[in-house]
Amino acid sequence: MMSREQNDRISRVGPGDPAGRLLRRYWQPVALLDEFDEARVGPRPVKAVRVLGQDFVLFRDEQGRWGLLDRDCPHRGADLAYGRREDGGLRCPFHGWLFDVEGRCLETPAEPEGSRLCDRVRQRAWPVQVRAGAIWAWLGDGEPAAFPELDCFVAPDTHVFAFKGLWECNWLQSVEVGIDPAHASFLHRFFEDEQPGEQSYGRQFRSASSDSDLPMTKVMREHFRPEIYVEPAPHGLQLTALRRISDNATHVRITNQVFPQAFAIPLSDEMTITQFHVPVDDVNNYWYAFFTSFGAPIDKALMREQRLKMHELPEYRPRVGRGNQYGFDPREQLEQTYTGMGTDINVHDQWACESQGPIQDRTREHLGTTDKAIMAYRRLLLQAIDTVEKGGTPPMSMDAAQAGAVRGPVTMDAIGPGGSVEALRDFGRGIDARRRARASWGAGR
Ligand code: FES
Ligand SMILES: [Fe+2]
Repeated sequence: MMSREQNDRISRVGPGDPAGRLLRRYWQPVALLDEFDEARVGPRPVKAVRVLGQDFVLFRDEQGRWGLLDRDCPHRGADLAYGRREDGGLRCPFHGWLFDVEGRCLETPAEPEGSRLCDRVRQRAWPVQVRAGAIWAWLGDGEPAAFPELDCFVAPDTHVFAFKGLWECNWLQSVEVGIDPAHASFLHRFFEDEQPGEQSYGRQFRSASSDSDLPMTKVMREHFRPEIYVEPAPHGLQLTALRRISDNATHVRITNQVFPQAFAIPLSDEMTITQFHVPVDDVNNYWYAFFTSFGAPIDKALMREQRLKMHELPEYRPRVGRGNQYGFDPREQLEQTYTGMGTDINVHDQWACESQGPIQDRTREHLGTTDKAIMAYRRLLLQAIDTVEKGGTPPMSMDAAQAGAVRGPVTMDAIGPGGSVEALRDFGRGIDARRRARASWGAGR
């Protein structure tokens, strides 16, 4: 159990909050490139974005350069998200002041001829980079850190697909669902099995593991008391969850906490997901998922279409959610699924996060043995917050030389032999290494 002060300390993200100051030491995804498709955004690539409780305007100037500026005009505060994109920048519609992607004031057209007012005005501009199908921003002070060489940042564009969705709750409880190996046996339980087959949208725990014909639904349902091991890793934490099926068969799943606010999990034999939970403010967050393939190029049109069906644009708000009771059906809960909320596991996870409340009240929780990764992660988070407060550099906020040392991470899900956790971890890492070695883009470096 935590004190209220500690809970605030690890969850709130405003510019003056301890966790907010920590998260400003990392690149944050602020939009998908897809959102700037001409078909979507029209002739004017300008969007308002809210991240970490702050409002910005993100735009692309006529030369194709990206800019992220504070949203309030430095003249008298009008909204630059309605700006005119012209003449080398973004022009405020109130009195025509013009700003370039670096926040320089280029014109104050109503001022007298020869006015030097422009020289004294600068709009705050934030560094921006395009990576893995998303636009990332550096919202802190000082020199931006380097990107770690995670799979999603190293793979070519053809092998990474990015999507996002809005969850109405604090970011931290969303990260914590991703490092909780026990919940899959309950929250994602199906009472009947399907023949193992094609991976498809939202059916991660419904197909088979690598190298096995055992339906995952059966493994999850019948082996609901996993052994969970948590180890420190260069990227944060590595989790190994074992489900002993028989003396010589064990379900092995390796997942990761990628510090500070992502997790990396297997999706299928060929694909891994790195998912960042990015605070909009204290009580809303976007998940940004980066699907990375070690095999064939990704059919992005198909993946996009499957997910767009479930989300309302332009906010990427899920169509199923609190407003329609997550599709809850008591008969289905009796007969088919543990939740009664349909077969899309993303909906289950969304319910699990949102129903904890806008910010989970950790003063009233009771953690158990299965929450050991969550406890380890909170310790890391508190330490990193202390480090930043004392003027130090938190983990994973790296220079270019250090960034090369953070790779992968290993993710896998397969049925292995019996044996010790060490042996099974090696078995799992071996499977991951083999698919990396086969990847066309050097995932096995
Ligand atoms: S408020 Fe923007 S130009 Fe006056
Ligand atoms: Fe889940």
